[in-house]
Amino acid sequence: MSDITRREQTNELALQFGNAWNYAPSREGTEQVSLKPRYELFIDGAWTAPKSNRYFATINPATEETLAEVAEANEEDVARAVTGARAAYDNVWRKLSGKERAKYIYRIARALQEKAREFAIVETLDGGKPIKESRDIDVPLAAAHFFYHAGWADKLHYAFQGREARPLGVAGQIIPWNFPLLMAAWKIAPALACGNTVVLKPAETTPLTALMLAQIFQEIELPPGVVNIVTGAGATGAALAAHPGIDKVAFTGSTAVGKRIQQALAGSKKRLTLELGGKAANVVFADAPIDQAVEGIVNGIFFNQGHVCCAGSRLLVEESVHDIVVRKLQDRMRTLRVGDPLDKNTDVGAINSKMQLGKIHEMVAAGEEEGATRWSATYDLPSKGFFFPPTIFTGAAQSCRIAREEIFGPVLTVLTFRTPDEAIEKANNTMYGLSAGVWTDKGSKSFYMAQRLEAGVVWANTFNKFDATSPFGGFKESGLGREGGRQGLAAYSEVVG
Ligand code: NAI
Ligand code: MG
Repeated sequence: MSDITRREQTNELALQFGNAWNYAPSREGTEQVSLKPRYELFIDGAWTAPKSNRYFATINPATEETLAEVAEANEEDVARAVTGARAAYDNVWRKLSGKERAKYIYRIARALQEKAREFAIVETLDGGKPIKESRDIDVPLAAAHFFYHAGWADKLHYAFQGREARPLGVAGQIIPWNFPLLMAAWKIAPALACGNTVVLKPAETTPLTALMLAQIFQEIELPPGVVNIVTGAGATGAALAAHPGIDKVAFTGSTAVGKRIQQALAGSKKRLTLELGGKAANVVFADAPIDQAVEGIVNGIFFNQGHVCCAGSRLLVEESVHDIVVRKLQDRMRTLRVGDPLDKNTDVGAINSKMQLGKIHEMVAAGEEEGATRWSATYDLPSKGFFFPPTIFTGAAQSCRIAREEIFGPVLTVLTFRTPDEAIEKANNTMYGLSAGVWTDKGSKSFYMAQRLEAGVVWANTFNKFDATSPFGGFKESGLGREGGRQGLAAYSEVVG
């Protein structure tokens, strides 16, 4: 009996005796977390009521319960924050040596580590992602990002080969809801390291961990105004990007809004970096270790409910192994635990908002209408909250919407290829170019593919790996500029000399 057949029989048995895969509930406690009923704006180092007099609720998408009320910043509030950031830039931050700036950034990193558990719980409550991801990925990576950039603050001279790096001034930063704390770290850490000050706008469905970060800024006595946090929805973001006192805009979010910001900034002095959508190809060759690849496919698309701009949402599988890959993928999907994000065993949590859930339903309906075959295992989904079962589509044409458009949910479209060049052509046949994956036993094939795939990141025999030292960003309509690594520092510096 071959190894593969033996393993399959074991799987069959495990599936028959389903209990082998059942875990007792193991819910993370929330006693340690004390959320305020209401959060004001964080401007000039202090909590301040919005001139708009308006507040909005942020809910827990797994229960639909309100967690807190949050201030909605209008144009006037945004202007106050920009003024605060400008004064802090002129009077304090730009005058500090890199070594002094580094001390503050190290303090932020350490405080975040000390409060890691609290941050992980709130990230899960506010956004719906599984606690094991908030705990093991989001929070540690956010802290790592501050540590990494603290290290650069007094070494910028070396980052640019002896040339002088000057700060740009005030950065306006707009972030999405899929990695709320991590995106705040990706934006704030390099800006501060390079000597800029910040006005940050978190996403309206997930503002809480950014506001907890503001509490850390107060505790570590970051000079007032160096980072300001203005909460609100699209109008607040638009006011920030349009404000004439901003020197640089950094945006992560939808391609549609990214394009609008780019148009609004055209011809202005403002620098711009954009990190937009994706439709990543995860390419599996017949010579790949199939079980490992299946695990990578699952991680690529079901991680964080598929709310990942670099998600491996198009599986390109070599035709000869299509059937076995799909069957093994289905077996693995049957064992995924979907539900309460606070349960430590949960693999797939809640969809971030009702709106996003509606978009996923719409795209899945389009896939069925266009004739692709939809498959999903049976999951016991909670009766409240926003949930969507991990789903795959086979038999889709390349022209289908589900093969071209970003779904941003736990939905995978499977396509096939026969030769490496056909895989490259299909993988690159998209307006996006953020990431890609290659699964093969042959190193030379990985390199061949990586050189030809139009993607900012290409993972080989792995997927969705992030590191502060590695630049991240897109080709084509996936965006402009890079975040992380030495390249990411350039986005916050004017390099002279
Ligand atoms: P979005 O692009 O509207 O939201 C991202 C951020 O931009 C939020 O903070 C939002 O308040 C802000 N914003 C919205 N309109 C703005 C404007 N006119 N000017 C300035 N800021 C503005 O994304 P949304 O509507 O939440 O999601 C829609 C789709 O976008 C998703 O289905 C997904 O396909 C994609 N998306 C991509 C992300 C990525 O990481 N690349 C993250 C979130 C969404
Ligand atoms: Mg929320």
